[in-house]
Amino acid sequence: MPKVKAPRNRTIDTPISEGQHYIDRCITVDSPVSDIDSILDKTIIGDSFDVFPFLPKGSIDLIIADPPYNLTKVYNSSTFAKRKASEYEEYTRRWISAVYPLLKPNGSIYVCCDWESSLIIGRVLMEYFKVRNRITWQREKGRGAKANWKNGMEDIWFATKSDEYTFNLEAVKIRRKVIAPYRVNGKPKDWVETDAGNYRDTCPSNFWDDITIPFWSMPENTAHPTQKPEKLIAKIMLASSNSGDIVFDPFLGSGTTSVVAKKLGRHYIGIEIDRQYCLWAEQRLEMADTDKEIQGYVNGVFWERNSLAEQISASVAQAEKTDEKEQLEDQIELDLFGGQ
Ligand SMILES: C[S@@+](CC[C@H](N)C(=O)[O-])C[C@H]1O[C@@H](n2cnc3c(N)ncnc32)[C@H](O)[C@@H]1O
Repeated sequence: MPKVKAPRNRTIDTPISEGQHYIDRCITVDSPVSDIDSILDKTIIGDSFDVFPFLPKGSIDLIIADPPYNLTKVYNSSTFAKRKASEYEEYTRRWISAVYPLLKPNGSIYVCCDWESSLIIGRVLMEYFKVRNRITWQREKGRGAKANWKNGMEDIWFATKSDEYTFNLEAVKIRRKVIAPYRVNGKPKDWVETDAGNYRDTCPSNFWDDITIPFWSMPENTAHPTQKPEKLIAKIMLASSNSGDIVFDPFLGSGTTSVVAKKLGRHYIGIEIDRQYCLWAEQRLEMADTDKEIQGYVNGVFWERNSLAEQISASVAQAEKTDEKEQLEDQIELDLFGGQ
């Protein structure tokens, strides 16, 4: 019997029988690509290891990779089997050495991993790139273990090809409420006074504890088992790429990297081996034609956790200026009460 979804469940789970037209938008690459423009803003169906040698060298500004971790995991039509550490290291070296030449000399790469794969991925990345940081993302979910600590974090390695690279600090500062407003000569010191409250934009650290895993009532949610949040990918992309840059994801999954790139005005290329996931990626890309919203990124600002009231008053103050107040109030109502 087909599963009946709860009324507010927005999970994208369109089956291939109903979404062939999305798969038809994807491409395959089985010969050398001489002009990168011919594969821009496309989802490539196929095995990344087969496709890598055909992609033009030095053409990518930013790689965001979320490879299978060294865990046994079913990805719809295929299963990634946990292997010995030395074999996972070999697997990691195979794909990292293949994507390295694709990156421009001033390009950056981010790689997601759990704590165990991180031990290997960090080491292999160091063989090829200048490793600049290890971001720790505190995930809220995680299965409890009987004789171990619950897995509640993931690592995201940040590395570059050279010392010249893009880092847009201003684009990823975190907006925080000012608790003790300090003034010098009557003027705010390092904070801003607005109709909607007082705030300060602060430098983001490498510990990210303000990003929720997509869940069933969020419009970005799909039935993919390891989907990353759009907000997480947006932070990476805003810091390490510019508008119009080319972002590449060799393990695209449900399409998060491509969708965020489209919403933020970057070009994208993604490879995914599973047709069902390619379908959901294309469906999300179509939704992004009309919905550019990234949850947690409001009017071009990342707000600190538990600041919904401030986000709303800032948005209302902004909308009052631009005559969009009514429309915004409808949107907030939807976000608050339709999106739980
Ligand atoms: C960890 S998931 C990525 C999830 C993705 N970040 C998202 O937000 O949906 C890894 C994905 O890589 C795909 N994959 C694994 N091996 C692959 C290969 N050799 N070529 C292309 N895709 C592959 C899997 O099917 C899976 O969807």
